[in-house]
Amino acid sequence: MIWTSGWELASAVSNAGGLGIIGSGSMYPDILREQIRKCRAATEKSFGVNVPLLYPDIEKHMRVIVEEGVKIVFTSAGNPKTWTSILKEKGITVVHVVSSSVFAKKAEAAGCDAIVAEGFEAGGHNGREETTSLVLIPLVRSAVQIPVLAAGGIASGRQMLAAMVLGAEGVQVGSRFVASEEASAHQNFKNAVIHATEGSTHLSLKKVVPVRLLKNAFFEQVQAAELNGASKEELETLLGRGRAKKGMYEGDLENGELEIGQVSAAIRDILPAETILKNLWAEFEAALQEPLYHL
Ligand SMILES: Cc1cc2nc3c(=O)[nH]c(=O)nc-3n(C[C@H](O)[C@H](O)[C@H](O)COP(=O)(O)O)c2cc1C
Repeated sequence: MIWTSGWELASAVSNAGGLGIIGSGSMYPDILREQIRKCRAATEKSFGVNVPLLYPDIEKHMRVIVEEGVKIVFTSAGNPKTWTSILKEKGITVVHVVSSSVFAKKAEAAGCDAIVAEGFEAGGHNGREETTSLVLIPLVRSAVQIPVLAAGGIASGRQMLAAMVLGAEGVQVGSRFVASEEASAHQNFKNAVIHATEGSTHLSLKKVVPVRLLKNAFFEQVQAAELNGASKEELETLLGRGRAKKGMYEGDLENGELEIGQVSAAIRDILPAETILKNLWAEFEAALQEPLYHL
């Protein structure tokens, strides 16, 4: 996750039994190299790097990933065709994030090892089709043979179990970890996340790249411009440069871009990543014991 998942969060998640992922989308290549090295020094467990494929400096990022011996890459926001085979030739496991069964099939055809099916509820960039996790997971499950990880709206063990009932082999959790002690998000942003309620987020900037945002003054500006029929170029100008950094990393809750999922409405505390993972598993096990599953 850009601006929020650096080596501290990724290594904490891996040390606690998950697969921590460094979000490279907000990093220059030399920063990414440093983050990978710090993550490796902080955990002996596997970890991955996420690379949004729209990133302009993508060749440099991929070179760093290969040179540093990263074993698992999650790609997103783009066509997996070009990079999957290049990474796989280097022995890297490639997982691609999709928001539709059409893209899931394309990712499978491109040779990806697994897929993240990310529903409309999710924080960050999002699909134009607006397919919710409840609908998307079974669609993707039946569209491909490779393993499916569900994302979007999962912050509790009960939600994790639901995703698995729908056909997922595993889950990718985003928003819940923004409100973790190890996330590199600004404290103001973390506090805003735990005070979010139902309706606090909205899918925005569909003409540019659809992204789910926490409502604030910047969001209202975008909404007004969109209602007035602003063009893609006008919206890009309004967005400017560095909005996401301003909001999520520097803590400007008014003028910054704040990316978070609908499930923020259910997140009420900032916890260590290890506790978040322990809670997820404990809730999952407890939910499994409920009478529904023993009919
Ligand atoms: C602050 C934030 C930044 C994100 N940045 C990225 C990113 O750079 N690349 C990516 O593939 N997904 C990104 N995502 C999406 C997450 O990886 C994950 O799929 C999503 O948060 C899952 O939905 P949830 O928020 O309901 O848990 C981001 C999510 C958030 C909340």
